[in-house]
Amino acid sequence: MRILIIGSGGREHAFAWKISQSPLCEKLFIAPGNAGTRQHGTNVDISPTDFEKIASFSLEKNIDLIVVGPEAPLVDGIVDYFLQRADIKHIPVIGPAADAAQLEGSKGFAKAFMEEFDIPTAAYGEFSVDSLTEGLDYIDSQTPPIVLKADGLAAGKGVLICPTHEEAKLEFQEMLKGKFGEASSRIVIEEFLSGLEFSVFVLTDGKNYITLPIAKDYKRIGEGDTGLNTGGMGAVSPVPFVDKELMEKVEDRIVKPTIEGIQARELNYKGFIFFGLINVEGDPFVIEYNCRMGDPETEAVLPRLKSDLLQHLKELADEQLGTTPVEFDDRAATTIMLVSGGYPEAYEKGKAISNLENISDSIVFHAGTKNKEEEVLTNGGRVIALTSYGSNFKEALKTSLKNAEVVQFEGKYFRKDIGFDL
Ligand code: AMP
Ligand code: GLY
Repeated sequence: MRILIIGSGGREHAFAWKISQSPLCEKLFIAPGNAGTRQHGTNVDISPTDFEKIASFSLEKNIDLIVVGPEAPLVDGIVDYFLQRADIKHIPVIGPAADAAQLEGSKGFAKAFMEEFDIPTAAYGEFSVDSLTEGLDYIDSQTPPIVLKADGLAAGKGVLICPTHEEAKLEFQEMLKGKFGEASSRIVIEEFLSGLEFSVFVLTDGKNYITLPIAKDYKRIGEGDTGLNTGGMGAVSPVPFVDKELMEKVEDRIVKPTIEGIQARELNYKGFIFFGLINVEGDPFVIEYNCRMGDPETEAVLPRLKSDLLQHLKELADEQLGTTPVEFDDRAATTIMLVSGGYPEAYEKGKAISNLENISDSIVFHAGTKNKEEEVLTNGGRVIALTSYGSNFKEALKTSLKNAEVVQFEGKYFRKDIGFDL
């Protein structure tokens, strides 16, 4: 098969690494990719949201399957675009159509969906400028901390957890005034849930699903989960506290009702669902849905998938999902992200990365990197993910930390405590 992966981060490098190992993979392209993805295929300089160029490239290269990494092209309707054009509608695009991608693209949509299908999540209210007074009253009726969420996509920054009513009211009004642009013109205010978070990933055709290895990511920049939120500083898979009993509750109360809801609403969903969950005293609740795989979770999840991902994706496209059973590697995997100094605030790009060739026992996934002739340069906040195996996450972490010291670039920073709370 001839495959095109859309995206340029560590998640897409992990997809390229895994898919290129499949005997079904004849040719692999990544648009636009990074300095790591080109070890497994050909990078093509096309933006993930330039659907016209993606379509003409796919026709020219006889692409058989497109795997979409990030949410933006999905929320913007890449699946709909392909289905609406007679000359390309035969090419399967892995991901939900735009209306189904609203599960990630609109917090209000996701909350209403969960309410309708009785899926456990925090109690909430949804407000806009037209219901400002009601919003302020709602805040007063809540027990702090108070969670405010911009309805739309806000690059992972749109959630605020306010310790007092006063702060919540101020932030609520700032958000309505455009703190996160159009994304915060509607706001979800919700109950604060306390517990440990974890992530469950399924691949679905809208009726059937297969479950991938679970993971937990570490979003804050600082050790002990302190400081600003980032795209993710590391991840572990599996998650020790997620036992068989909890996982059964997740399937029965969350995964199955979600798939039933997708069917009931007649949404076109043929792709990954990422359930961001929280364990509240043994009961799972949904914090958020994402319509794609997580980053850096994918860098820990795919190394633990023994079965052929491309085979699973092909079966999804052929309406045969689940024919081949999913097989897991019993080992644990831990990934840590090396980031640019200053991230997630301002940081510099273009720093030379050295010593990658001296890494042993870890898988190197490039995130924000690019080539300049034979040199590899930093090209983003999150630069390199190092994934290692171990009999448990701590052992795996040790190996990743050893290699994190080996890789060099100016301003390098990483968390040494991934898994500290487990
Ligand atoms: P989200 O973008 O919805 O994943 O929110 C970002 C982060 O905010 C989550 O990973 C949680 O750590 C935190 N968060 C979101 N909603 C809640 C909630 N209702 N209770 C506690 N923490 C939350
Ligand atoms: N690591 C969290 C995400 O991908 O949204």
